Amino acid sequence: MYFPEKIVTNDDFAAEMETSDQWIRERTGIAERRFSADGEVTSDMAAKAGLDCLDKAGVKPDEVDAIIVCTVTPDMFFPSSACLVQRKIKATNAWGFDLSGACSGFVFGLSTGAQFIESGRYRKVLVIGADTMTSIVDFTDRATCVLFGDGAGAVLLEPSDDPEIGILDFDLHTDGSGEEFLHMPGGGSLNPPSHETVDQGMHYVHQDGRTVFKFAVKYMTEVSENLLKRNDIAVEDMTLVIPHQANMRIISSIADRLKLRDDQLGLNIEKYANTTAATIPTCLCEYHRSGKFKRGDLILVSSFGAGFTWGSSLFSWGL
Ligand code: ACO
Repeated sequence: MYFPEKIVTNDDFAAEMETSDQWIRERTGIAERRFSADGEVTSDMAAKAGLDCLDKAGVKPDEVDAIIVCTVTPDMFFPSSACLVQRKIKATNAWGFDLSGACSGFVFGLSTGAQFIESGRYRKVLVIGADTMTSIVDFTDRATCVLFGDGAGAVLLEPSDDPEIGILDFDLHTDGSGEEFLHMPGGGSLNPPSHETVDQGMHYVHQDGRTVFKFAVKYMTEVSENLLKRNDIAVEDMTLVIPHQANMRIISSIADRLKLRDDQLGLNIEKYANTTAATIPTCLCEYHRSGKFKRGDLILVSSFGAGFTWGSSLFSWGL
């Protein structure tokens, strides 16, 4: 994983606008977040996370077959961030593409990458969740700007001979009727960039926070329950459940509904806020490094984001 060095605390926001550390902590569970440095872009963070992952796995960049970069903040519309990452990490034998699933990007990317492995077509697929949310957040809108941070996390997917190991199942959903509640309307073919679109702030994240909150709780709970049920796995047998890190109150509601013990819940929102496609892989990485889980342990990740998009993936760890 990779996080930029610059730490921005709630008090830093309180010094600039009408908000407080107490409001942000109580409403969101966020204490601080990381901001990318000037000129540090999504492909830089994604490349660093990707190299870190390959290094830990003992795999050389030229062994990678495919790179999937999950992001809604690519460096530019084209070429894809995956192309830029491929160049930066010197993955000379890989092809790649970007996957736009917003906060569900990584869960979508993980499931997509797993299909390339399961089909037998590829042996090494690098899936990276990376977002530079500071590039699309309106820093005059206190209801959104305090929620987000920048970062990147990566996993390497490889085949396993052991049928007990790997991605056991996933369940993914899209409902485009949620578009109006969370979107960035400007900059694309609908509202190509112009002085007018910029004046109207169309190049920023716009959301109806309460509606997003409500659907996030409902759908992440539902999809997680369904996945466990259809795989005949009891919640108490899960080693770790990592929900997308958008708001601690969303996470707590899901944990209550699923009846998770505290030690089963994966969290990193307090330190990094909502890093969109990077929340789940960075959280996974932190817990892995702290020795929280070992080979064969069951892990469930679940997400909800703009679209609406949502889904869960269930896997047993392979290292
Ligand atoms: N500091 C102080 N006051 C604030 C702030 C702030 N940073 N932001 C909003 N307020 C004020 C509002 O202006 C409002 O004041 P008013 O009553 O005078 O109008 C008051 O706080 C309450 O506002 P609400 O929007 O009702 O507050 P709520 O409890 O719903 O919390 C929040 C807002 C944190 C955005 C919440 O709705 C939320 O987290 N929603 C989920 C949105 C989300 O996570 N989006 C990320 C992308 S999607 C995803 O990742 C799942």
